Amino acid sequence: MIDAAARSLAHSQRLLVLSGAGLSAESGIPTFREAQSGLWAKFSPQDLATPEAFDANPERVWAWYRWRRSLIARGGVNAGHRAIAALEKHLDVVIATQNVDGLQTAAGSRDICELHGNIWVDRCSACDTEHSQPVAEADESAALPRCDACGALMRPGVVWFGEMLPIHALERAQAELDRCDCVLVVGTSNQVYPAAALVEMAVAGPATVLEVNPQTTSVSAGVDTHIAQTASTALPALVDRLDASRAAR
Ligand code: APR
Repeated sequence: MIDAAARSLAHSQRLLVLSGAGLSAESGIPTFREAQSGLWAKFSPQDLATPEAFDANPERVWAWYRWRRSLIARGGVNAGHRAIAALEKHLDVVIATQNVDGLQTAAGSRDICELHGNIWVDRCSACDTEHSQPVAEADESAALPRCDACGALMRPGVVWFGEMLPIHALERAQAELDRCDCVLVVGTSNQVYPAAALVEMAVAGPATVLEVNPQTTSVSAGVDTHIAQTASTALPALVDRLDASRAAR
């Protein structure tokens, strides 16, 4: 499977990567549809990642996002993120990610559409003023952040259930879907729309579609190559084969 996928990449010019939480799982960041570990076992993201949850209990929502920020700061970039950045040696790469962790940017990728926003951005819940926060373990005892422009509570700069995606990111991803000749789907269960629709359009379209996921998903039967391995195993192996085939030329 790896060899077939590497051959597809070697014969492509423009790659669109569609990534999800599974890409960051090996950084120690739980995915959404696996059981939430520890403190958050009794909550589901659907109960925390909504405007209503924030209005009802901003302290609890901020505690969850501060917990996730600390996990991301501790886990950091993994071999899968680095391999995706390394693919830029071989192809023009655009990444449309559902992840809000900022790890693909930290790994060095330069062209990323953050479909669900970025956890390191605070946004005013009233006037949309935004402030980027440093990547660091969160101070869980700190008072909730307030807007220095209008005094309202700040919220995490991510897309919550029921909210619109940033239109520029979604339109860019759709435009790249029309331009690319290969799509690499990594670590997503394809259950949340409209991001999942990008995967479905890729499978229905002319581009070669590769999927990296230890599990099968709703699109696995329709992709050209499904690699049933983790991102940190499969993606470096793909880069190694592209490096070797270039050296052999
Ligand atoms: N490598 C690759 N894939 C993995 C790995 C790994 N190491 N570990 C788990 N996976 C796969 C799982 O098999 C699953 O298919 O990653 C996928 C994670 O699926 P979800 O938890 O549903 O994450 P995702 O698809 O990104 O969720 C989409 O849902 O809650 C919202 O906004 C949130 O962006 C998120 C969206």
